[in-house]
Amino acid sequence: MDTIKPYIEQNKGRFLDELFDLLRLPSISADPKFKGDVLKTADAVAASLRRAGANNVEICETPGYPVVYADVLTDPSKPTVLVYGHYDVQPPDPLDLWASGPFEPVIKKTEKHPEGAIYARGACDDKGQMFMHVKALEVMLKNNLLPCNVKFMIEGEEEIGSKNLEWFVKRNHDKLKCDIILISDTGMLANDVPSITTGLRGLSYVEVEVTGPNRDLHSGLYGGAVANPINILAKMIASLHDEENRITVENFYDDVENLSDAERAEMAKAPFSLDAYKKALDLKDVWGEKGYSTMERNSIRPTLDVNGIWGGYIGEGAKTVIASKAYAKISMRLVPHQKPEKITALFEKHFTKIAPDCVTVKVTPHHGGLPYVTQIDNPAYVAASKAYEATFGKPAIPVRSGGSIPIVALFEQELKAKSILMGFGLDSDAIHSPNEHYGVFNYLKGIETIPYFYSFFAE
Ligand code: BES
Ligand code: MN
Ligand code: MN
Repeated sequence: MDTIKPYIEQNKGRFLDELFDLLRLPSISADPKFKGDVLKTADAVAASLRRAGANNVEICETPGYPVVYADVLTDPSKPTVLVYGHYDVQPPDPLDLWASGPFEPVIKKTEKHPEGAIYARGACDDKGQMFMHVKALEVMLKNNLLPCNVKFMIEGEEEIGSKNLEWFVKRNHDKLKCDIILISDTGMLANDVPSITTGLRGLSYVEVEVTGPNRDLHSGLYGGAVANPINILAKMIASLHDEENRITVENFYDDVENLSDAERAEMAKAPFSLDAYKKALDLKDVWGEKGYSTMERNSIRPTLDVNGIWGGYIGEGAKTVIASKAYAKISMRLVPHQKPEKITALFEKHFTKIAPDCVTVKVTPHHGGLPYVTQIDNPAYVAASKAYEATFGKPAIPVRSGGSIPIVALFEQELKAKSILMGFGLDSDAIHSPNEHYGVFNYLKGIETIPYFYSFFAE
């Protein structure tokens, strides 16, 4: 194992250059205009796996964007690790808030990343983190350190709900057969506080449409006499949380797993400064469900948030109008035992019930996903924990994350395998936001830590 560090040191310039090439491709899965670039990115990932020494590299077609598959099968009697990641990225908008082009990667030094961070869309989520696994494979193969079998499955539709990966997994149980799934698509607490993600929240995502009159109206001629769907929508949304900031959708909390006091006390041991948290976001105060800490609110508790709201006139100047329709996109993050279909149905029922007779409402479900948890006595978790100890010099803390990777629960159902979430990003890396970045330290430390996971897992 002592050849790992020198090999990375010698090759780090190239490791960064290769990642930069991938980051230059605008693989925005949500926008059909970028179809050609998304497909080119799949090719680039396949080529990089081939160069790293993988076999059976395949671009597997699906009804949507392809899945890149590759493997190195050393010995059928040894365990198999399946690496999952995604090569698609979120749209970079709003573009004017980026200090440099989202697809023109550059390294800049910051307070959180004194060794420099790579600025680009996808730097952390997930090209940078996914590519660590490709480079870790190279490190292991070049240094004769791969102790077991490895398969790669890199998809191009994670940011739009992984619909076709579900299609692919259901049809390829044998090809994807494995003992553990290894994923770097989450974060850790800080560069000197390594952590392993033991849970992900689920998701239920809906769009609502509120209709008032059958056409846009003059707000003087009709104002005050017919319902304004924007006013009504605002009021309906405001009523979705009560005085204690609990969600008012009937039966919403029925299946929520309540943690024991002991588990909550264990969680509270993770280092967290509320002052630093507020300062980083320029907030005078935080917000959330009464009775829970900030860490609990964004991990073990469910949420309901409006992601976008629109309607009426939003152009230059003023237009006196009562719009016929108003809209909102609403996401609900779910915790263990909540089911997205059930929550979506409860929401629809509630939202329809609270609508006054002066409007009609329509609720359209979008993608959803189940929550996920791993137990810390899982042998793969123990292997991951030892790996962090080997490279960071201290054990990793188990942390439940507030984010979602819906396909992880599906892997468990379909492939009967658990996932280990070895994320190396920081919450401050601005994923999905302008100026997304990923620490050079984090990138290289990830490449160094991953081979240790294989080594301890195969023991
Ligand atoms: N990698 C993120 C999820 C994530 C980030 C989990 C950080 C934990 C910590 C993933 O790419 C993502 O953005 N997921 C979406 C859900 C998806 C259905 C669009 C999310 O969480 O909003
Ligand atoms: Mn991701
Ligand atoms: Mn994402």
